[in-house]
Amino acid sequence: MKFFIDTANLAQIKEAHEMGVLDGVTTNPSLMAKEGITGHDNIINHYKAICEITDGDVSAEVIATTYDEIVAEGLALAKLHERIVVKVPMIKDGIKAIKYFTSKGIKTNCTLVFSAGQALLAAKAGATYVSPFVGRLDDVSTDGIQLIEDIRLIFDNYGYETQILAASVRHPMHIIQCAKIGSDVITGPLSAIAALLKHPLTDTGLAQFLADYQKGANKA
Ligand code: G3P
Repeated sequence: MKFFIDTANLAQIKEAHEMGVLDGVTTNPSLMAKEGITGHDNIINHYKAICEITDGDVSAEVIATTYDEIVAEGLALAKLHERIVVKVPMIKDGIKAIKYFTSKGIKTNCTLVFSAGQALLAAKAGATYVSPFVGRLDDVSTDGIQLIEDIRLIFDNYGYETQILAASVRHPMHIIQCAKIGSDVITGPLSAIAALLKHPLTDTGLAQFLADYQKGANKA
């Protein structure tokens, strides 16, 4: 399973990359705003900076919501770097644009997916990735992980190559549950990825090993 980091924070992207577990980056307009990156030119330069850090795909989201504008904005984003994936919202014009980008060999990520039917449409349009938002479904008392399972079943039934990119992943158990189901990718904050490292028995076990080594070294 691929690990993407869901942030526009360059320091966190570098940290995940240096851990050796980063397969890509996802961003969205809210994450850009959170880092204080505003205005077209700054946003474009920020995408380029992200692409310089990671070896993997970098999702860059369009702001446009009509077909012609999505296509124009997506083509410009795709030209920025070979690793850019054009992130397109799950709307009618978005699906049409994904079909167009697919025909031109441009990678896409269909975002804001909250149902299996939406995921099926994105796959039929040839999206490279489909992004169901696990955490935001949980927020409204709907099982986000169940949606990943449903999409996995549907994609496997028909051999769709669209990768399931479980988004809005918030904590380590989301990551484990996605891995058990067979999600192709998860994207979440560095905190959720780093939390996978933690187990109290690891900490106490390591402390014991080091103490026992020291005892032996003191005797020698
Ligand atoms: O990739 C989508 C993600 O940014 C949404 O996450 O935590 O805002 O629901 P969240």
